[in-house]
Amino acid sequence: NNDIIILGIESSCDDTSAAVIRNGVLLSSVIASQAVHEAYGGVVPELASRAHQQNIVPVVHEALKRAGVTKEQLSAIAFTRGPGLMGSLLVGVSFAKGLALALGIPLVDVNHLQGHVLAHFIKESEEDTDQPKFPFICLLVSGGNSQIIRVNAYNDMQVLGQTIDDAAGEAIDKCSKVMGLGYPGGPIIDKLARQGNPNAFTFSKPHIGGYDYSFSGLKTSFLYSLRDWLKDEPDFIEHHKTDLAASLEKTIVDILMDKLRKVVKDTGITEVAVAGGVSANNGLRNAFREHAAKYGWKIYIPKFGYTTDNAAMIAITGYYKYLDKDFCSIDKPAYSRVAL
Ligand code: KG4
Repeated sequence: NNDIIILGIESSCDDTSAAVIRNGVLLSSVIASQAVHEAYGGVVPELASRAHQQNIVPVVHEALKRAGVTKEQLSAIAFTRGPGLMGSLLVGVSFAKGLALALGIPLVDVNHLQGHVLAHFIKESEEDTDQPKFPFICLLVSGGNSQIIRVNAYNDMQVLGQTIDDAAGEAIDKCSKVMGLGYPGGPIIDKLARQGNPNAFTFSKPHIGGYDYSFSGLKTSFLYSLRDWLKDEPDFIEHHKTDLAASLEKTIVDILMDKLRKVVKDTGITEVAVAGGVSANNGLRNAFREHAAKYGWKIYIPKFGYTTDNAAMIAITGYYKYLDKDFCSIDKPAYSRVAL
């Protein structure tokens, strides 16, 4: 039988995930998140790799079971090789290598960032055909990255602009931490922002040329403004929580959209996608819809489940690399940092 069945494995940060894709259609996707980090207000690398060790076998087992596929039926194993936390990556990378070696099937290494972009091509059924047409522009915004990418083909991407310091998600998470909210801050800010006034406060925006981003100035501006307001009113945060969240979110969304609009204008490419953890944000999703209506963009917003880290995006990227016979030899190490 000619079915191409790919097992995808993702362990770059704090989610252990496995997914099975047959001929480009998703059969199963399992994610084990790690609650252990909440108490620390951020991901603790050593705890993350220990949890991956505990989760990887049951997660892969469950993904195969839900897909109704035996490991002997697999055509190849795709795994996240980087970028990410080294100790976390090592668990998935070693597991993928061991299983591929035991089964005598090819290995496909996947760049996590490429995976986020190709999440748009995850098909839940054969009828699922609303996918971006090449070339398209993709805004990739996550906890570790903020980039504008020109996607020419599945395996041909060009970074047009990127953050020179913090990522958008990192900025949201840090500001929310300053406000004493939980971790990760993104979803909490999102929820509060819906009830607040986005024009209540203004925070500084970067003035850098080209298509690059910067978020460290905003973080400092937020911190200093808050410090001054707290001097006059100790309960300031409690009283203005929703307005602070809405104004912060608006500033970040404006910064993201300003550069994206510039890229679309300069390239003339109006197929525009968004990807990565921050693409779950409602303010950003609304801004995309407004731009589509106003400027005639054809927009692609991923389903919530495929915005944050998941193995389905790794499996689909692996599938397209498999079709190109772009395999990985067993001696290739994981990498913690890499460009797209
Ligand atoms: O893509 P992702 O899961 O991890 C990385 O590969 O970095 O992204 C995680 C980031 C975190 O900063 C988190 O706060 C943010 O995405 N995030 C959100 C929302 N959901 C997750 N930011 C804003 N609004 C959300 N609804």
